[in-house]
Order: sequence, then structure tokens, then C-alpha cells
Amino acid sequence: MTLTIALVNLKPGVGKSTSAVFLGQALYEAGDNPLVVDADKGRSTQRWEELAGGFHFPVISKATRTLHTDIPDLMENRGSLIVDVPQVEDHAGIARSALRICSTWVLPIAPSIIEVDRMFADGTLVEFLDNTQELRTDTGQAPADVVVLLNRTNTARMTKGGPDADVRQLFRDKGFVVLDTQIPHNDDRYRQSGGQRVRAIGTPYERVIRELKQRQAG
Ligand SMILES: Nc1ncnc2c1ncn2[C@@H]1O[C@H](COP(=O)(O)OP(=O)(O)OP(=O)(O)O)[C@@H](O)[C@H]1O
Ligand SMILES: [Mg+2]
Repeated sequence: MTLTIALVNLKPGVGKSTSAVFLGQALYEAGDNPLVVDADKGRSTQRWEELAGGFHFPVISKATRTLHTDIPDLMENRGSLIVDVPQVEDHAGIARSALRICSTWVLPIAPSIIEVDRMFADGTLVEFLDNTQELRTDTGQAPADVVVLLNRTNTARMTKGGPDADVRQLFRDKGFVVLDTQIPHNDDRYRQSGGQRVRAIGTPYERVIRELKQRQAG
């Protein structure tokens, strides 16, 4: 059972790169030997790796529309995969290719109704995700597991009446699964710099991996 995870959203700045690195670290700590592919031309994950003097897993920059055919060769003996996908609104071709090769699609999003509205305006994202699911099933793949990850929440645990609860409900109304685990706002822990050692143990990202594995196991 191998996790292949794409971090994807319509918009930039939602926590895709941060989540890619911390989930990479969580997979490493779980012994799952991840490869992280930075498919964003901005190369911020690659840059973060340079600043940090390397991670416990390789980061490969590849921002092309042929990821679905290129990544299998890049995997070599790696046991799991994370792709940092560029924002769909500007790079749908690259994003589509990434989602074809990843069977778990994680959508990071801040718990803001306005952000969620924006995500679903004109049906852009939903249409894109649906079309890409069709592409997968047309080529004999199982549909991907699509989950929302609330990022930059006020609290580490879900609340009953806070902004995270409102947004959870909104997503549920739209037919989306929201992970139980949420990532609280924490400037110190999630800063993208060389000075900060990336550790996932004891953080919500460790729980995200556990939740995704449980979902995959059915
Ligand atoms: N939970 C968090 N707490 C505090 N800051 C966070 C958190 N998650 C992300 N950030 C910060 O928010 C900014 C955007 O995050 P990140 O770069 O991961 O988003 P992104 O979706 O990859 O953006 P882009 O589309 O520009 O590549 C970064 O400065 C990051 O350090
Ligand atoms: Mg990024």
C-alpha cells in the first residue's frame, strides 16, 4: 500500500509547499521512503530544500505536462510520492498530469468562507477535478481519494462552532470530504527557512498521513 499524494488547489498561497515538505517528512519518519516532486515553476520547495541543506528525502523539480509518464522513472526505489502541484488557475495542464499519477488529492485551504467560495466560483475547480477523475477512469485507474485539509486554523483540534466548523460544513454540503486533522496557524513551526529543522513527529502532519492510510485501507 503506497501513498501517492498531490497537494492541489485553484489558488496560490494555500499551504501546498509547506504541506508537501511536512508530509514528506512524516512519510520518511513512517519509513515510507518518499520522493517529493516540485511541479511548481516557482520552485519554492526546491529552494527550501537548498536553504535547509537537504531533507531526509529527495526533492526533484519537474514542472511539465508529462509528469504522469515521467514520474514512474523518477521513482526508482522510492516507496511513496508527494507532488507539489502549481495552482490550477494558471497551470491546469501540469496539474492534470500530476493528478493522473497521484491517487490521493489533498486540497489545503484556510478556514475562510470567502476562500471556499472563490475555490468553487464558476465551478472551475470542481469541473477540473471531475474531468481529471474521468481521465483516470478512462485509462483504467481507480478514481482518486479527494480530501480537504484545513490549514492555518485557530485551533489544533476541530471545534464545534468555530470558523473551521463552518467551513467543514460548507465542504460537506458540496460533497467533499474534510480530514479530521487540521493544521493550526503556527509561524514558528511552518516557516520555510534553513534555520528550522523540519520534524513531523508529534505534529498534525503525522496524523494526516495516518488518516490517509486508514482511508486507503478502506
Ligand atoms: N499552518 C501554517 N501556519 C503559519 N504559516 C503557514 C502555515 N501554512 C503555510 N504557512 C505560510 O504561508 C505561506 C504560503 O504557504 P505555502 O508556500 O506552503 O503555500 P503554497 O500553496 O505552496 O503557495 P504558492 O502557490 O505560492 O506556491 C508561506 O509563507 C508559509 O510559511
Ligand atoms: Mg508553493
